[in-house]
Amino acid sequence: MNFLAGFWYAAGWSTEITTKPLARRILDQPVVLYRTEAGQAVALDDCCPHRMVPLSRGTVEGESLRCAYHGLRFDRGGRCVEIPGQTHVPARASVRAWPLVERWQFAWIWMGDPAEADPALIPTLPWLDSPLWVASRGCMTYACNYVLLLDNLIDLSHTTFVHRSTIGTEDVARTPVKTTADGLRVLVEREMTDTEPSRLYRRAGDFAGRVDRWQRIEYSPPTRVVIDAGAVSVDPAEGSRRIDTRVINLITPETPRSTFHFWAFARDFKLDDAALTDEIGEALVVTFNEDRVLIDDQQRMLDARPQQRMLDNAADQGVVLARRMIDRLLRDQGGLAPGT
Ligand code: FES
Ligand SMILES: [Fe+2]
Repeated sequence: MNFLAGFWYAAGWSTEITTKPLARRILDQPVVLYRTEAGQAVALDDCCPHRMVPLSRGTVEGESLRCAYHGLRFDRGGRCVEIPGQTHVPARASVRAWPLVERWQFAWIWMGDPAEADPALIPTLPWLDSPLWVASRGCMTYACNYVLLLDNLIDLSHTTFVHRSTIGTEDVARTPVKTTADGLRVLVEREMTDTEPSRLYRRAGDFAGRVDRWQRIEYSPPTRVVIDAGAVSVDPAEGSRRIDTRVINLITPETPRSTFHFWAFARDFKLDDAALTDEIGEALVVTFNEDRVLIDDQQRMLDARPQQRMLDNAADQGVVLARRMIDRLLRDQGGLAPGT
């Protein structure tokens, strides 16, 4: 399946991009990410035009990147500015530079037509910059196509069975969802009244008794899933105490069979509790690893049985709508074939 190129993808957390070049495959393209000495983040094709050694093996000099093999040097626009031992620099001694913009603590890359790379199209993630929220964060890699990870995040009925030790409760799977969609968004909502909080919520939110709990999963193509999950105490002694969280998921295809999952869990309570930030982060790594084992196996099974069709349940409506949205965009935009 082709990739949708006309969108901003998370290339990495801003903190991952330093003056030590980082090799990362994105939409099946080799990319080198680096930061100039003046602090600007850059994305270039990770292939020296001279003898095709990855530029990520090179070193940053000022704003430029010098190849580790014969020392060709490229500026942040990808133009060769030095060939040791000769004065003439031919025009084709350049590499592709992709638009890269930092916002919300991420570096966003645009791999479609650069003329259309409008930073106003970068998804809005205010919870990651706001003084009223604090976030645990990380990145995982899966051995699956990105669409399987979208499936997993849009349909949370699995949390009851997969994530008992952290975020799952009995009520999630048995509570029906309301699914709605407009042009470029799918919304899956689940309201659970007078229910048990999950283990993570009981611990993080200090709920002694029962709560009203909600999950609102918002998918925007191609690869953003923001989950608004919160709880309010129904115990009169607790006086309607409420906590709110956002689980922010940015999914970036690495290859047709591997996927980056940049995640953040932002909360609006206990903002100064750094130990809780770490604890939630560790619980989420456990949680996502529980998914990963199943999804990676799922990909192997799909590869072994390309002719078999999956079965859709009522809870899959959001997943079906999201897949349809991707198909429609691919028909409209054409998309980028893997490896090109
Ligand atoms: S391969 Fe890069 S300078 Fe020769
Ligand atoms: Fe999960």
